[in-house]
Amino acid sequence: MTEFREKGLSKEEINHFLQAFKQQDVPWRDGRVFTYVYHAGDDVEEVAKLAYNAYLSENGIDVTAFPSLMEMENQIMGMTRWLLRGDENVCGSFTSGGTESLLLAAKTARDYARAKCPHITTPEIVMAETIHSSLFKACHYFNIKPVLVPAREDHRVYAEDMAQYISANTILLAASAPSYAYGVFDQIEEIGLLAQKQQLLFHVDACIGGFIGSLNRLNGLSQTNFDFSVPGVSSISMDLHKYGYTPKGASVLMYRDDTIRRFQYYVCNEWTGYTVVNPTMLSSKSGGPIAAAWAVMNYIGLDRYKAMAKETMLAVDALKKGITQIDDLRIIGSEQTSLICFTSDKINIYELADELKERKWITNLQFAHGHVPANIHLSVTYQHIHKVDAFLFDLEESVKMLSKRKISKLLDIAKRKTAEAMAGAMGTDMMAQLAPLLGVKDGQLPERMAIINQLLNDLPKNISKELLLKFISDLFSASHSK
Ligand SMILES: Cc1ncc(COP(=O)(O)O)c(C=O)c1O
Repeated sequence: MTEFREKGLSKEEINHFLQAFKQQDVPWRDGRVFTYVYHAGDDVEEVAKLAYNAYLSENGIDVTAFPSLMEMENQIMGMTRWLLRGDENVCGSFTSGGTESLLLAAKTARDYARAKCPHITTPEIVMAETIHSSLFKACHYFNIKPVLVPAREDHRVYAEDMAQYISANTILLAASAPSYAYGVFDQIEEIGLLAQKQQLLFHVDACIGGFIGSLNRLNGLSQTNFDFSVPGVSSISMDLHKYGYTPKGASVLMYRDDTIRRFQYYVCNEWTGYTVVNPTMLSSKSGGPIAAAWAVMNYIGLDRYKAMAKETMLAVDALKKGITQIDDLRIIGSEQTSLICFTSDKINIYELADELKERKWITNLQFAHGHVPANIHLSVTYQHIHKVDAFLFDLEESVKMLSKRKISKLLDIAKRKTAEAMAGAMGTDMMAQLAPLLGVKDGQLPERMAIINQLLNDLPKNISKELLLKFISDLFSASHSK
């Protein structure tokens, strides 16, 4: 149990502790992590740190005190508006990430509907079932009903299908450009037409694909339209901290015009303190992410961004080709994007993720959904351009090894436990019963996660949700601190 220190540590000691803490984390610097981290090079990181540090303590709460932050934000809006082919009416806000952008897109639509369609008392967002979880979260937070439109065999959501789900309570249509899980663009142009016809707002979630998708268009590598050039699109979220390679805490939410954005703002002059005008969710916020985003975007510049995107897409093509050539693997979706998703009908995908991890590759395991089996996702970035051959070699070796190995007995046990849980045969404290079986000890997960992942995949969603919640909540406890 950690207690408050009477006397503070020295700078050197602090640094020592920080470096020691870092040893616990995935070593992302060598390009073997296919998720979470976007690294454009040490020189870019240096520029980001310089700007972040310079604005660490400045507070974005008040533009009259820190107009420089507003100026940098306006310049960022100018760049992103250009990238998304918006006209001079397109406006937006700098947010802390994709999640905040999507939370705000939903809140704006809700408040827009409150003003324009007061008869709607139970608002609904008609959204692609494959859209990012942040929009589900937004519905949960803001008491909006998510109405899910199924994707077709090709993992795309079609306007024709979406039309079937629109009701008198619909406040927003939402689709992805592209979806995180399968890297597929929904029918953005057709949904735009639908939105216009039905006079509905339409949000395009381009958090992961907006930046690189626009660069692909500029490089002549993509003809998929998803931005403000598409009539009917009323707002777009696009993260800078992904393919813009800025430090985390950077996304933009852009609107067709200010008549929509005004419903995003929150003003409070009813309380006893200073006047509050919050364009986004937070009040006090560090100027670091804005300054760093401004600095990185200006430092990298369009030419280098385009070159980086081109090289990244070459790596994507090579990876896809290599994966397709490996027997027993098949690619899911992943069209014209930097995201790759693959699965196997023969070998156990959870074991494959473990095997890759053992060879120091970190990938994203995605559970089965509808007709799509569990799969492995790679977000390919500039950091991976020289890792293609090494990854494919290890992938092929892992597949060969697993295809010879019999399915682990423990997986059978996990399956049996799942069946028991589903039949309601397990007590309420499932975690306690399952932990030793799964190799969880003192809140620590085992190195190999196949059994846990298989179980989480197979359990009914309400039960796996409870398990996940309990497990993570137990981890976050001051009593665990050393
Ligand atoms: C399509 C999409 N939308 C939203 C998000 C959420 O972004 P963040 O993790 O920055 O909150 C992500 C993250 O991967 C994403 O891929």
